[in-house]
Amino acid sequence: MAKFTKATSIGDWLNQRLALDKVEKVMASEYWIPKNINFLWAMGMVLAITFGLLLVSGIFLLMYYQPNVDLAFDSVNYTIMQEVGFGWLWRHVHAVAASVIFLIIYIHMLTGIYYGSYKQGREMIWISGMLLFVTFSAEAFSGYMLPWGQMSYWAGMVITNLFSAGSLELNGVVEWIRGDYVPGQAFLNRFFMLHVLLLPLAIIGLIGIHFAALRIPHVNNQEGEEIDFEVESKKYLDGDAKNSKVIRFGNDFMAKDMFVVAIFLTFFFYLVFWQYGFAMDPVNFDTADGLVTPAHIYPEWYFLWSYEILRPFGKDVGLIAFAVAQVIFFTLPFLDRSPNVAPANRRGYFAIWFWLMVVDLIVLTAMGKLPPEGIFSIIGEVSAYVFFALWIALPIITTYEKKL
Ligand code: HEM
Repeated sequence: MAKFTKATSIGDWLNQRLALDKVEKVMASEYWIPKNINFLWAMGMVLAITFGLLLVSGIFLLMYYQPNVDLAFDSVNYTIMQEVGFGWLWRHVHAVAASVIFLIIYIHMLTGIYYGSYKQGREMIWISGMLLFVTFSAEAFSGYMLPWGQMSYWAGMVITNLFSAGSLELNGVVEWIRGDYVPGQAFLNRFFMLHVLLLPLAIIGLIGIHFAALRIPHVNNQEGEEIDFEVESKKYLDGDAKNSKVIRFGNDFMAKDMFVVAIFLTFFFYLVFWQYGFAMDPVNFDTADGLVTPAHIYPEWYFLWSYEILRPFGKDVGLIAFAVAQVIFFTLPFLDRSPNVAPANRRGYFAIWFWLMVVDLIVLTAMGKLPPEGIFSIIGEVSAYVFFALWIALPIITTYEKKL
């Protein structure tokens, strides 16, 4: 057993039992971060803070929300919005954070792709990140069901209907998922459970794995340079911090991170107080009605690109196309065959691949919002094919990429 001495303070008492000084070193003062990174590397911290805002605001909403098909709509739109002190604030924080977190996730993912941060020892960071993306998507979808408005009901209907494709229909999978023939009480109950318990737990666990996966390979840097962290950190600790390529995570880098977080929060609360409307669909201010189908059913903006990929195809192929689009980014570390860890602009054809992908995702998003008619439906279809063509091209162009 370890030797305990008489504690000189509460901190010392805890330290002898929990080795807090060692934890502090591993997590902060001897966790080394490259100097050569820009504000895009603060997006991970912005995501963690935004997730915190979602948790706290969600807990307040949970105190008044009623998961019952007859009461849910009024508990949100009347009780929380009008009766409960500051209920409107928690609802706006929750809705705006849910929308903005996807914008930041997309920026964070594209940063990783641009700088090749998913390669050579960083595969697990990427895979755990993608698991977070998929789980967040399920979290957002299940949350959208809860106000039990027209869009909740009909988006729930359309998405669960996907599972009636082909042979699945015979096995009654849709009814199994819904717990009924149409979305009803059983449906609301299970999505409520997923939204407030199972998925948040999974997200917290996955964030832990994502952070742990970062610890060994360290974060990448703007040039993709392979840094010898042992040599550079020794330089830093020996007093030559100026010539070292690294800084400490705590508190050197945290100070920079927090500066970006502060700018983000200013923008965030501007949206919460003045522009919250963008995060709530007007159709969802009508209570769910199984007998009145809205003229145009579309998901929230962050699902539009994958929704548009599903639309040009029939039901069977559509389901497969949609499922493939949601998970294909998992394969990136394995389909990118080039050994180069470098920004895309130094990687020949990969730069073209990257920017085509960005433009294609934006076009798919725009077309997903428009009714699938005339020219919009043609542009949407072409963009869906371009999306898959880009993934087929990736291993080919990266195999022949020149070694830097
Ligand atoms: C709530 C979700 C997430 C949180 C809280 C989070 C948090 C973080 C943090 C704190 C970092 C280190 C600092 C930085 O580079 O920003 C990081 C790095 C990284 N994350 Fe995430 N992340 C999330 C989602 C994702 C997703 C969806 C992906 C991609 C599929 C992803 C991929 C990566 C990669 C590749 C890195 C390494 C960057 C590098 O080495 O330069 N993360 N993440």
